[in-house]
Amino acid sequence: MTGTKKSIHGQWSSRFAFILAATGSAVGLGNIWKFPYITGENGGGAFVIVYLLCVLLIGIPIMMAETMLGRRSRQNPINTMITLSDEAGADKNWHYLGWMGVIAGFLILSYYSVIAGWASAYVLKAFTGSFFDADASEIKGLFDGLIASPIQLIFWHSLFMLATMSIVAHGVKTGIEKAVRFLMPSLFVMLILLVAYAMTTGSYDQGIEFLFTPDFSKLTGDSVLTAMGHAFFTLSIGMGAIMIYGSYLPKDVSISKTVFLIAGTDTVVALLAGIAIFPIVFASGLEPAAGPGLIFQTLPIAFGNMTGGWLFGLLFFVMLVFAALSSSISLIEPAVAWLVENRDMSRKQACIWSGSITWLLGFGTVFSFNVWSGFKVFDRTIFQLLDYLTANLLLPIGGFCIAVFAGWIMTQQHTEHELGMPNPLSYQVWKILICYVAPAAVFLIFLHVVGVL
Ligand code: PHE
Repeated sequence: MTGTKKSIHGQWSSRFAFILAATGSAVGLGNIWKFPYITGENGGGAFVIVYLLCVLLIGIPIMMAETMLGRRSRQNPINTMITLSDEAGADKNWHYLGWMGVIAGFLILSYYSVIAGWASAYVLKAFTGSFFDADASEIKGLFDGLIASPIQLIFWHSLFMLATMSIVAHGVKTGIEKAVRFLMPSLFVMLILLVAYAMTTGSYDQGIEFLFTPDFSKLTGDSVLTAMGHAFFTLSIGMGAIMIYGSYLPKDVSISKTVFLIAGTDTVVALLAGIAIFPIVFASGLEPAAGPGLIFQTLPIAFGNMTGGWLFGLLFFVMLVFAALSSSISLIEPAVAWLVENRDMSRKQACIWSGSITWLLGFGTVFSFNVWSGFKVFDRTIFQLLDYLTANLLLPIGGFCIAVFAGWIMTQQHTEHELGMPNPLSYQVWKILICYVAPAAVFLIFLHVVGVL
């Protein structure tokens, strides 16, 4: 299974390029689409606090570990786990970790692309002026109409998959780097603008209170798991995306500083999205727990009623699609790199194969919103099942294993050298977090959910 490794592995042109690409991977639908709706479903403030704690105590140390593993081996995640576990003389079962990540990537991208398809459909709606002067019920009608149509969903999902695969086919420098260079800053500006609009709705305080006043009685075992799962999802960790990006990272770059910057940006974007969305939810008498349609049922109201809304709406959805693209390329990159490095495929062939599989898998999600909406396993539609399986189970399990591997299997000498922290104290803090805090937290939350705790 190992295959022969070829030395065709790319490298970022600079630290800045890595920061852009990894931020591009982290910032995506998770921040703007998912964070607000799961916060709404899980009661607001208390959920946000658990999420923030998970990012700080579990997410950031694991993100550093994952980047470090990739950079040390300079190979795709599957080969990375093989090389590093052999180097440490560890059990062969560690080899499976890379595979699990690749599978998680396929599953996530299969539904991610369908949701990104919604965003793409909204680019067209914004362009044709569909939001103009519309009220909350008209906006809801637009959304319901879209997800009821398999044909429309398949069309947009296909378009998004095509775009993703053609960027990946161009390789690390020419494709991925160029694509993210301009997108991130523009997205930021758009969010600030939406926050400014939210301040004029009259329900700004209510929105802020919902987001930041914790009511711990609303927190269930499952919402704690969702908050932790989201910390993994939003930082792109636990499946090899950050590992493969780390493998393209030059040796002289400080991993800790870079990771803090990326995780910080990611968190700020999510909070800004929440601050923009909830005031509109309350001002329009909508339900915070409206589910996956939340941003599509709220933001267009803002665009339809503000001056310059046509242009801003258009720009916003274009940005959202680009943010999704810079994440989707990192979901499939581990699989593509493996096919190229171990299976002798050209990048183009590898993209065709992996893209087609993901595209087909995506039909499950498409139909779960309409013709198969009654089909449920464990009380969940296919989309909900995929989301739960990947974000709440596969990514935390992957992250747990990465933490154990970096903390307990690799030698101190290797991790210390690779992380290269100037201050010995910060290395000690990381070591405690990665050896004890992060794995224990993941484990305890799992125990809590299955009812043992
Ligand atoms: N972090 C991305 C987002 O927030 C999603 C993602 C998950 C990307 C896992 C890569 C790996 O949208």
